[in-house]
Amino acid sequence: MEDQNEELNKVVLIGESGVGKTCIINQFITGEFEEDSLPTLTNQFCRKQFDFPDNKSISIDIWDTAGQEQYRSLNRLFYKNAKAVILVYDVSNKLSFDEIKNYWYDQIKQHCDNNIIIALAGNKCDLYEKRQISDEEGEKYAESINAIFAATSAKNASGINDLFENIALKMIDMKEQKTGE
Ligand code: GTP
Repeated sequence: MEDQNEELNKVVLIGESGVGKTCIINQFITGEFEEDSLPTLTNQFCRKQFDFPDNKSISIDIWDTAGQEQYRSLNRLFYKNAKAVILVYDVSNKLSFDEIKNYWYDQIKQHCDNNIIIALAGNKCDLYEKRQISDEEGEKYAESINAIFAATSAKNASGINDLFENIALKMIDMKEQKTGE
């Protein structure tokens, strides 16, 4: 059983099955990409420490979740004490973007704290010719839900570090604001 404190900086990736949640985490943690990544069956986490200038540091737990429909009710347990959620869609799959708007964002609203940090990641941006959702469309939606936007590719690593760093920085900001009150 985990120590309560260990869950304090929980970041959860959610979104449809196959959008690349597991690959994003793997690329970030190991720098590797798997063409044949299999669907996630159990939720699991990786810990990552960030050390920024001015002695600002934070350790975050990055949780992968299963996007397949039969696991949806289980995932809700994981949103509950999350500090940040990354909504992931696949830029070559319009349905995966529509489901962010129609289902996943509502889940955050229903199950997470009001001050949760939200990021929207348009993944697979290496698939130039198959793209169905432009970055502008993603950015516009991110703005409307007050989310950090990231165009990512778990395949070529673009946007991945920035995504997690921006979340870590925002977490530090929020902690500082809280302690400064
Ligand atoms: P679930 O675990 O079922 O929820 O899926 P997931 O969102 O974790 O997807 P996963 O990371 O397993 O990736 C699904 C498929 O997409 C795999 O075949 C990956 O190789 C591929 N994939 C993931 N990210 C990218 C990417 O950035 N670019 C390309 N071209 N393919 C990707």
